[in-house]
Amino acid sequence: MQIIALISGKGGVGKSTLTANIAMALTQREKRVLVIDLDPQNTQRHHLGMDPDEIAGLAREGITSHAIFDSPFGMQFIPFGRVQEGELDEFAAELKKHPTWLADGIESISDKFDFVLLDTPPGPTVYLQQAIRAAHRALVIVLSDAASYATLPKITALVEQYTEGRKDFLGMHRLINQMPTRGRLGHQVRDAIFSNADAQVVPVVIHKDERVSQALAFERPVLEYYPGCKASLDIQYVTDWIIESEEQ
Ligand SMILES: Nc1ncnc2c1ncn2[C@@H]1O[C@H](COP(=O)(O)OP(=O)(O)OP(=O)(O)O)[C@@H](O)[C@H]1O
Ligand SMILES: [Mg+2]
Repeated sequence: MQIIALISGKGGVGKSTLTANIAMALTQREKRVLVIDLDPQNTQRHHLGMDPDEIAGLAREGITSHAIFDSPFGMQFIPFGRVQEGELDEFAAELKKHPTWLADGIESISDKFDFVLLDTPPGPTVYLQQAIRAAHRALVIVLSDAASYATLPKITALVEQYTEGRKDFLGMHRLINQMPTRGRLGHQVRDAIFSNADAQVVPVVIHKDERVSQALAFERPVLEYYPGCKASLDIQYVTDWIIESEEQ
């Protein structure tokens, strides 16, 4: 089993979208996939076709069978769950006390899945810390713009801090999302990201594609809604890269 955390310094870069769609592509390749939403915004349920009235999830139930749902798209899914503010504070405090809470929970069900994908909130939070401690690999989602690029050193340092001394951590890779098909600036930032010798980069970029937000409006992964579009094809490549790099 491999645990992959999708993380970013800046919000709105596409972590939740890519989590759902990489999960979809892995499912299509007959991998057993679990998605866990670690973001209190609880938005992953819109991507994976969850009943909007359901309140159960990670924060209330933890990693137990009561929190694991079957997505209509074939993977399994633990939403963050709907919680009141007081409950959220309690949950966050619990996570602070037990830095390996998530890692231990996933370990207890590790024989059931080939891949566990972790969707996280942006920036340094207790949820990011839990995700990094549990993950074997981190995908740092970055846009090819200057603001997103500027957040890379900080998130890189956090991952290094949380994974120090971990022999089972395979490393972090930067993944460019929403690459514009035209304009020079996007290409310049992409080239800067690729030419940084100190950082590893996923060798495929995911293009900006309006089908992605159209699919979300219908609460379906773009891979399912429009499998032939540019972003869907890019995501297929990224998924093959993930599987190949796991096998190596
Ligand atoms: N490749 C893409 N092409 C076009 N739009 C995209 C692409 N990827 C993501 N988006 C759009 O960008 C917006 C933000 O995506 P998403 O919610 O997945 O980001 P996020 O990183 O999870 O945000 P947050 O930090 O708030 O959790 C959404 O409207 C989504 O449809
Ligand atoms: Mg998100």
